[in-house]
Amino acid sequence: MLPAMPGIIERYQERLPFAPGDPVVSLNEGSTPLILAERLSERAGLEVWLKLEGANPTGSFKDRGMTCAVSAAVREGAEAVICASTGNTAASAAAYSARAGLRGAVIVPEGKIATGKLAQALMHGARVVALRGNFDEALKLVRELATRHPVSLVNSVNDFRIEGQKTAAFEIVEQLPSELDALCIPVGNAGNITAYWKGFNEAGLKPRMYGFQAAGAAPLVHGKPVEHPETVASAIRIGNPARWEEAMNAMTSSGGAVKAVTDGEILMAYRFLAANEGVFCEPASAASVAGLLVHGPAENVNRVVCVLTGHGLKDPDTALDQAGAVVACDPELSAIERAVLE
Ligand code: F0G
Repeated sequence: MLPAMPGIIERYQERLPFAPGDPVVSLNEGSTPLILAERLSERAGLEVWLKLEGANPTGSFKDRGMTCAVSAAVREGAEAVICASTGNTAASAAAYSARAGLRGAVIVPEGKIATGKLAQALMHGARVVALRGNFDEALKLVRELATRHPVSLVNSVNDFRIEGQKTAAFEIVEQLPSELDALCIPVGNAGNITAYWKGFNEAGLKPRMYGFQAAGAAPLVHGKPVEHPETVASAIRIGNPARWEEAMNAMTSSGGAVKAVTDGEILMAYRFLAANEGVFCEPASAASVAGLLVHGPAENVNRVVCVLTGHGLKDPDTALDQAGAVVACDPELSAIERAVLE
């Protein structure tokens, strides 16, 4: 039997701020598939690869950052971790704190997180606080709280999160047969694009970085915060990203751009991936593909990687809303023939 791939701290220890012998809290995250998307490539008119971050243990890229943030919290002797979240950070923080034996508290915008993420956070035993406010307000409050109490803040304002998430760029460099020209990635709080850019730089690569925001939550596109962000892609319903400057620097200095995609465009890409590539991602993730399809590749861009940040099962409500209906059938051969074949 082949040995299991270790988690990212063990795999990339010399490039991460951890020493041999440090405590490691891991669920063997990372080592996610990078697949060639043939139908999408045909439609987009260039070679498109998909990095399936939904294949991480809790179903999103957050696990790469969380193994680092929670391991560092244990090393520092923290007893509890806290975060604000649109859902995935909450699910990941809850899982890794459960594994570490730490208390976890997650603050989420009331009624605005996908069902699967809520189920995860609750099942892992985190204290789930539904804030009557949005993500930006939640983040402001937890930042304040973390200065007053001995709790470790595990949002992407925590540098360990960026360190962990940069390993996805290392993997792409290892997995692709030759160099990539551009990366397409959804942008919410702007931590992940910052992390990829750091990872590519450390690996000596400079792909164009294209960040995509939902049109109703596109502060970087408008150049100013959005007070009441709205989008079907609840994971990126963020109006004032914490890593604003770094994300803008990644996009401008790489020759990329930040652009908006509408909810309709996001859902089109979401359905296209599921129906034509066999890849079920959550709506926010599909923003990367929507951006590529709607805004098109830049000149001299022949090979791109789209990052699919979270699994489609996270948000079953949007899926059922977007998908076809089931076919009811009586338990008789003639009826089943009609149901299946007609
Ligand atoms: N895609 C998904 C599925 C996300 O959950 C997030 C962020 C992003 C993209 C954007 O990444 O914030 O680093 O720019 N989710 C955070 C959360 C905000 O709380 O789960 P970003």
